[in-house]
Amino acid sequence: MPPLPVAELHVHVEGTLEAELLVALARRNDVALPTYDPVALTERYRHFTSLQSFLDVYYANLAVLRSATDFYDLMAAYLRRAAAAGVRRAEVFFDPQTHLNNGVGFETLVEGFSSAVADAPISADLILCFLRDLGPDAAEQTLRAGLEFREHFIGVGLDSAELGHPPRLFKRVYEIAAAEGLRKVAHAGEEAGPEYVWEALDILGVERIDHGVRSLADPRLVARLRADRVPLTVCPLSNVCLKGVGSLAEHPLKTMLDAGLVVTVNSDDPAYFGGHVDDNFAAVRAALGLSAEDVRQLALNSFEASFAPREDKERWQAEVLSAQIG
Ligand code: ADE
Ligand code: ZN
Repeated sequence: MPPLPVAELHVHVEGTLEAELLVALARRNDVALPTYDPVALTERYRHFTSLQSFLDVYYANLAVLRSATDFYDLMAAYLRRAAAAGVRRAEVFFDPQTHLNNGVGFETLVEGFSSAVADAPISADLILCFLRDLGPDAAEQTLRAGLEFREHFIGVGLDSAELGHPPRLFKRVYEIAAAEGLRKVAHAGEEAGPEYVWEALDILGVERIDHGVRSLADPRLVARLRADRVPLTVCPLSNVCLKGVGSLAEHPLKTMLDAGLVVTVNSDDPAYFGGHVDDNFAAVRAALGLSAEDVRQLALNSFEASFAPREDKERWQAEVLSAQIG
């Protein structure tokens, strides 16, 4: 049976760096790694105690990315794998600040990522993310530098260490982005509580919440998200790996779906958390006992939540409605 058509709306291209490519790029660019054995590296990727413990490894590994070809290879590998997973549309996060701080030019990373998107076997666009722990001034500087490449990305997002870096600090940079016609999303409610989700909605004016799993703690917030059909891009394997949720069986995805929220399933950082979007679907189906109709609803939601042109979204949703779900 062919995979279910979906949109993937929450994936960090930097988090798709598989151990094999990491080793190949380290050799290509003469960058030292703690080990050159992909199996041993992958083993290290699997043991995290928190978001920060993951981010430390994730940022360190990105030192292997140097040339436009490296960035192309990373993005192209993700898009090929996503196509095989049934992804029709990918809205892919990238973190320019990490690469700029590694001495890579903005034009280099944009050239690599953008060329891979142009060559992609599926519909894809880029979303530029700010590293919230580097603060609002750095975010604004990054956006201004990025605007030289305005046609290469469709929106902005906010990621990295959440606690202590609330959305309200980024009000100005989101206003600048909005004035440029950019779409707005933000990570909120991954480790921090519902107040971060409120701020992302009311102060930043975001159109989607990335993660948002902690919204359930506030019934008034749930009512707001439902009434406004604000999509939540949930990443089940990520939440378990980073200890936001005790186990997949305890994941709130089904509760969120039953509450009428526009939830979607995504991979976040598939190289680190044990699977791509298809693996996330399979894992939650098994652990939460989702029905075929639940799965269909999740796929329909993903296209509703996408920033793709309406005609494309409707075509993909028709595909979902006629798909056999095994
Ligand atoms: N960057 C990459 N993955 C992330 C996540 N799950 N949360 C915040 N920032 C990230
Ligand atoms: Zn994320």
